[in-house]
Amino acid sequence: MRHSRGKRCAAVLALGLLFGTVAPLPLAAAPAASKAASVAPRIRYDAAHQLFRIDAGQVTYAFGVDADGMLQTVYWGARLATDDPLGAARVSPGHSSFDSPGSTSPQEYAGWGGRITIEPDLKAHFADGNRDLVLHYASHRIDGDALDVELRDIRLDVSVWLRYTVDPVTGIIGRSARIENHTAQAMTVDQASAASWNLPAGDDYSLRYLTGSWAREWRLQTRAIVPGATELGSRRGTTGDQNNPWFAIERGGQWNEEHGEVWFGALAWSGSWHIRVDQDVLHQVRVTGGYNPFDFAYRLAPGQTLQTPVFYAGYTSDGIGEASRLMHRFEMNTVLPQRADTKLRPVLYNSWEATEFKVDEAGQEKLAEAAAKLGVERFVVDDGWFGARNSDHAGLGDWTVNREKFPHGLKPLIDKVQGLGMSFGLWVEPEMINPDSDLYRAHPDWALHFNDRPRSEGRNQLVLNLARKDVADYVYGVLDRLLSENKIQFLKWDYNRNWTEPGWPDVAPEEQQKVYVAFIDNLYDIIRRLRAKHPGVEIESCSGGGARVDLGIMGLTDEVWPSDNTDPSDRLSIQDGFTYAYAPGVMMAWVTGSPNWVNNRKSSLDFRFLSSMQGGLGIGANILEWTPEENATAQRYVAEYKRIRSTVQRGRLYRLLSPRDEARQSATESVSSDGTQAVLFAFQRQGYEAERYPTLRLRGLDPKARYRYRLIHGEAAEGTPVEASGAYWMNQGIDLKIQGDLQAAGVVFERVRA
Ligand code: DGJ
Repeated sequence: MRHSRGKRCAAVLALGLLFGTVAPLPLAAAPAASKAASVAPRIRYDAAHQLFRIDAGQVTYAFGVDADGMLQTVYWGARLATDDPLGAARVSPGHSSFDSPGSTSPQEYAGWGGRITIEPDLKAHFADGNRDLVLHYASHRIDGDALDVELRDIRLDVSVWLRYTVDPVTGIIGRSARIENHTAQAMTVDQASAASWNLPAGDDYSLRYLTGSWAREWRLQTRAIVPGATELGSRRGTTGDQNNPWFAIERGGQWNEEHGEVWFGALAWSGSWHIRVDQDVLHQVRVTGGYNPFDFAYRLAPGQTLQTPVFYAGYTSDGIGEASRLMHRFEMNTVLPQRADTKLRPVLYNSWEATEFKVDEAGQEKLAEAAAKLGVERFVVDDGWFGARNSDHAGLGDWTVNREKFPHGLKPLIDKVQGLGMSFGLWVEPEMINPDSDLYRAHPDWALHFNDRPRSEGRNQLVLNLARKDVADYVYGVLDRLLSENKIQFLKWDYNRNWTEPGWPDVAPEEQQKVYVAFIDNLYDIIRRLRAKHPGVEIESCSGGGARVDLGIMGLTDEVWPSDNTDPSDRLSIQDGFTYAYAPGVMMAWVTGSPNWVNNRKSSLDFRFLSSMQGGLGIGANILEWTPEENATAQRYVAEYKRIRSTVQRGRLYRLLSPRDEARQSATESVSSDGTQAVLFAFQRQGYEAERYPTLRLRGLDPKARYRYRLIHGEAAEGTPVEASGAYWMNQGIDLKIQGDLQAAGVVFERVRA
C-alpha cells in the first residue's frame, strides 16, 4: 500500500488507528506471509505520528517524519513491546547558533543542503550551479518485509527512494537508496551513501573494525568513539584488505563475547567504499556507508537514476559473539546465492603451493590420484594452465588452454578427476590483463588508463576496464565458453592488484568517473549471468587472499579465500578475525607444506589439520611428497572432518579463547544448529613449562541434555568423565592436556539420545 504526505490525515481518520498509543494493530502494511492475524507485521506505519517501525528478531528500529518534514531515526536497539509508544520524530534542539535546531538531527538520509552540518548521505551539484538539496518525506509503500520511503527535494524534481528490508530471523535490516533525477538538467552525484545508522547518544562506545594487508588480513582493531570522525574505506577500486567494510560498535567499553550491547553492520559492495563513524557535538553517533566519495562523480542526465549498494546492520544485547553469529546466520541463509540450499563445502585440493605455474597434464593427474586417496572431493588446478603463463609476467587475458602443458586440452584431466569421484575446479583472474598477452596486443585500450599517461603495473598486470560493455561482454564470453566446453564445477576467481590510473577515456569526460560504479555493476552482472547459465558451477572469491570479501561478492559466490598466508599458527589469528564479520561456512583453509612458505615455520600435520578444520577444509601441500604415515594421518582427518563439517560450517560459533594480539592460546567451539553435536578446537602456539592449559567451558549446549565426548586429537585430563550434562561441560568445563609449542587438540561432543 502506498501513502503520500498529503493523504496522511485522511488515511488516519479512515482507518481510525493509533499505533503506539492505543491499538497495536497493523497499519498500512501487508501482513507477513502465513502469520496469524493477531501477529503484528514486521514493518508498520503509524500514520498519526508519521512513524515507521520495524520489529524483527530481537530488534526494534523506528524512524519518523519530523515537523520539518525530515526523516529521523527514533529508536534502534533491543526489541520493544508491540504497543510501546515511541511518539513522533522531533527536530533536534541544536546547541547554539553554530549548531542550530535540526542541523544535528539523527537523519535517516540527509541531503547536503539547508542547515545540515552532519555527514550527508547525498551531495550533488546541478548544471545550473545549484548545490543545495533538502530532502523531505514524500510517500511510502510497504510490501511484506520491504519498505520504500520516498524523499523529495523541497524545490527540484529529485527523488530518493530509501529501501528497507528486514530479515525476520536475525533482525538484520538492509538499507539502500535509489537517486532519481526527474529534472530537466544534469545532476552530478558527488557523494552517495547507502544509508546512515544512528545510535542512541552516548559517550561510552567502542568501535571494532578489521584491518590488514596481504598475508596479514583480518586484524581486529578497537578504538574509543570520541567526538570527531573515524573513516574506514578503500580507494582501491575494490574492497581491499586494508579495511574491510564491516563495523561493530560496543557499548560500555568492555570487550565481551557474550554480554553487552553491540550495533554492527556491513556494506555489500566490492568497489571503492566508505564507512564513516561520527560523534557529533551532541555526542550522537552516526555510521554512514556507501560509495567512497574520493574521486567520485556520477552524472545523472534527466531521467537517469543511481541505485546504491545495500548497507546491512543489526543489533544484539548479547555481546560481540552473538553479533558474529547473527551475521553468520544471515550470510548463510540470506546472502549466499544458494541461501538455504547452500551445499556444504567439499574437501578441496588446490595445486598452487605444490606446483605454482608448473602445471601440466601428467603432474596434475598424479596429484589428483593422490588427492582422491585422501578423501578429497574437489580438485582445483590453480594458475598456469592458459596462454603463455609460465610466470606472473605473461598470459592474463588469453584464456585458452596452454597446449604445451595440456596437449589434449583440459578434457583428459577433467575426465580423470571426475573418474576419481571428485569435482573439477579451475583458477581464473578474468578482470586482469598482462601487457605481455595477445589480448593486450590486440586491445591496449581495454585496460584502465588515462590517455598519454603511464600505466602502473602491479604483479606485472593491468586492470581491464570492465565498465566498458565490450570488455564486459568479452569477459563473460570467455568464461561462458570455458564453462560450456569443459565440465568445470568450480571457479576460483582471483583478483591480484588494485586500481591505478582509473581512466575511461573513450566516454565523455563528465561520464568517466562512473567507472567506480559501472565496473562493479558489470562484474556482478557477469557473475550473475554465468551462474544463471551454469547453475552447477560454484565460485570462490579470492583476491590475493582476502582482499575481496564483502556481502556484495558473497551474494554471488559460494566461498572465499581469506588469506594467502597458510601457516597454521598465523591462520588462527586470521581466521579468528574473519569470523567477527563472516561465516566459517565460507572460509576456506588449506593444509599446506611444512615448513610453511610464508614464514618458514614448521608444524605438525595434526596442528595444520586442526587449524584448517575450523573452516572449509582444503589441502594445498605437495601431497606427492607425503610419507605413508602422513597420508594415513591425512585420511583420518579428512574422514573426521566429513563427520563434523556441517557443525563447523553451519553451526553457531563460540570464540572461547581468542588468539587476538598474538595470544598464545586459543579455542573455538561450534554447536550444530540442532544442538546434537559440538566441536571444540584448542591450540597452543607456545607453552611455558608445567603451565596448565586453561579449562575450556563450553557454550551453547542444552544444560539438561547429556553429551559424550571423543577426541579427534589430543588428550583430556585424568578424571574427565566421558559423558556428562550440558550444564557440566558449560560450567565445570573440560581440561585438555596441551603442553609445549604448536600443540593442538580437537574434541567432538555428541548428544546422547535420551
Ligand atoms: C593469488 C591467490 O591468492 C593464490 O592462492 C594463487 O591462486 C595465486 N594468486 C595464483 O597466481
